[in-house]
Amino acid sequence: MSGTAILGNFCGDEGKGRIIDYYVGKNNIDMVARFSGSGNAGHTIQIDDQKFILRQVPSGILHPNVNCVLGNGMVIDPLVLEEELNNLTTLGIDFKDRLLISKNAHVIMPYHILADKNNEESDHRVGSTKRGVGPAYEDKIGRRGIRISELSRCHNQVFRNLNRWNIFNQNCISDSVFEERRKDCLNSIERYQDILNPFVCDTVQLVNDALKHGSRVVFEGAQGSMLDIDHGTYPFVTSSNSTIGGVCTGLGIPPQYINKVIGVFKAYDTRVGLGPFETELFGPESDSLRNAGHEYGSVTARPRRVGWLNLNWLKRSCMINGVTELALTKLDVFSNWSSRIKVLTSYGYQSFNGWKSDITKCRKWHELPFEAREFVSYIENYLQIPITMISVGPERNSIIEKEISQVKGNLLKYIPRLEE
Ligand code: IMP
Repeated sequence: MSGTAILGNFCGDEGKGRIIDYYVGKNNIDMVARFSGSGNAGHTIQIDDQKFILRQVPSGILHPNVNCVLGNGMVIDPLVLEEELNNLTTLGIDFKDRLLISKNAHVIMPYHILADKNNEESDHRVGSTKRGVGPAYEDKIGRRGIRISELSRCHNQVFRNLNRWNIFNQNCISDSVFEERRKDCLNSIERYQDILNPFVCDTVQLVNDALKHGSRVVFEGAQGSMLDIDHGTYPFVTSSNSTIGGVCTGLGIPPQYINKVIGVFKAYDTRVGLGPFETELFGPESDSLRNAGHEYGSVTARPRRVGWLNLNWLKRSCMINGVTELALTKLDVFSNWSSRIKVLTSYGYQSFNGWKSDITKCRKWHELPFEAREFVSYIENYLQIPITMISVGPERNSIIEKEISQVKGNLLKYIPRLEE
């Protein structure tokens, strides 16, 4: 019985993709199963000079013997999937017998994308990715969504849904446009089936069987806890559960299979879209951090909002998710940082000295400069959770692994220090 959940702990873009890719390689993982979200995600893995951006396909796909599952909790855009698969084929990655898609996952239809775009032009905008994710989940919860298994017999439902979205669409369309959209939709459906059918199966049975027979499985999170529909900064959230509960519902597995929960977070925080961001930076300081961290969307290239690491939020996120270990990414961004580095705690801001050396070649904990180790240890002590992986560069293997025993001795009784 071995299942590890790897989840984002802020607003997405924490570096889950590369942490999953690394963890899979190091721990002989047999299967990576994604439980929520859609093509709104952009999980980046860099190998040498080549960047792989995965949006719906799980981040284990670059390892040849790993099965990759798109679970029932996802809403799938077949055209985005086709593009991803074409890219993988071009790069010589064979996925044929190891990509498995849940027959119960819902399909993002063209009218969902239109509805999402329309919503972003209204007063109710949340700064969505405009991929149709919110409207597709709306239809799912409204019990009128279209599951992959129903694609061959959904024509009447498509008609009803089109009508419904048209009614709620402020810019009501004429009958002729309506008819055109209906035809487009029905034509798309055949294409969707061609794309999806080779991979569709009962993934609930498959994942449970794998776990029961001792396979090592990673449950891949998308987005982050602050974007969770229940626990995030509602209404500025995505429309699914990106926290731990989503693993059970989005894959159909019982909680006792989740043996380890790795929370991924960056050395600072970022957010895309609207919504509260307590530690947000503005002006030249935000530009410096955004540029140092290359904080531009992996798919859209939109500049991300940036700010200091909020440990209060991280603590809450660790509580909700039952995080047992942490993975800290982008520590190298603060190399040669000239001003103080800050983190927000319940006592106010705590600040640290930057380090004046390049840490991208460090592979052992003791190789890190004192200031960097002080920063990491402070976070561990504050949260009382070990940080077992630290990424120090974009390359696949630029990760420092810390033994739990090495960490435990380090978890001192936390003594609060206010900003000096
Ligand atoms: P939606 O998921 O497209 O509906 O967008 C809802 C909110 O979640 C917006 O603020 C998006 O910017 C944000 N969001 C969704 N997916 C991601 C992601 O993978 N990374 C970062 N932000 C995301």
